[in-house]
Amino acid sequence: MTTPASPFSAHGDRHFDGLADKFAASLYGGARGELRLALLDRLLPEMLALEGQPVLDVGGGLGQLAAWFAGRGHPVTLAEPSAEMLARAREALQETSGECEVTFLPVPLQALPEQAPGPWSLIACHAVLEWLGDPRGALATLAGLLAPGGQLSLMVFNRDALRFSNVIKGNLEKALADRLEGKGLRRRLTPISPLTHAQVMAWCDALGLEVRAVAGVRVFHDYLRQPPERDDERDRLLELEWRYCRAEPHWRLGRYLLYTLVRPDASPFPAEEPL
Ligand SMILES: C[S@@+](CC[C@H](N)C(=O)[O-])C[C@H]1O[C@@H](n2cnc3c(N)ncnc32)[C@H](O)[C@@H]1O
Repeated sequence: MTTPASPFSAHGDRHFDGLADKFAASLYGGARGELRLALLDRLLPEMLALEGQPVLDVGGGLGQLAAWFAGRGHPVTLAEPSAEMLARAREALQETSGECEVTFLPVPLQALPEQAPGPWSLIACHAVLEWLGDPRGALATLAGLLAPGGQLSLMVFNRDALRFSNVIKGNLEKALADRLEGKGLRRRLTPISPLTHAQVMAWCDALGLEVRAVAGVRVFHDYLRQPPERDDERDRLLELEWRYCRAEPHWRLGRYLLYTLVRPDASPFPAEEPL
């Protein structure tokens, strides 16, 4: 009998080879993907100081965020270890970004200090840490790539929101046992390392990263009994999400937590000229 190859990398991360179709259909194919992109389109210009600076998009997946930055005139370097995801990103970006400059790097986050050391004045890492064996170590790596004063747009899958939605769905035993994380096997899309806001805050504190802004992405949608089907209902939901995504207490139960983290000018990391 042959043993199936492990879906995990040497670092214990779940690269998305074999998951691209499912990810494209279930995370971006429907209303929730649209809502996520619509919210990011409004949130990022408010949460980041955007000046057309080069962006390093870590774990860039299918390339939606890279396309967004490229469309606003930022040269983008998209790093993605899954060959399948990278091929799709390349295809999508050829269609959308026109003359904008996008460089593709087929490497994991852990290789970036060697392959793209920067330092970078802007890094994006969205929905990646929760797929890693050592998300804390990954945040330290990202912090080390930032230029003094550089901004990291970090989005993570919210463990507290995952508990809440499990209880709503009636998975009481799982919630009581706090067995919330996925195993990363087969084609399941429950992250292996969902994170809490408290964890992110503690890690930022230890790394000397300043938390400049925070928001919840999809603070209502994932708890709805009946997701909206008509356009006017979807528009209303978007307005509600927008109104409360940065308001207490709602942002704390967003499916994703979105942060702007800044490396202070005088910080313990080695100082070099920004890209
Ligand atoms: C949920 S997808 C998010 C993709 C994209 N950032 C987005 O927001 O749509 C997670 C991505 O992280 C990638 N990934 C997994 N391990 C990684 C690692 N060690 N370094 C960089 N990316 C990684 C996966 O291959 C996958 O494309």
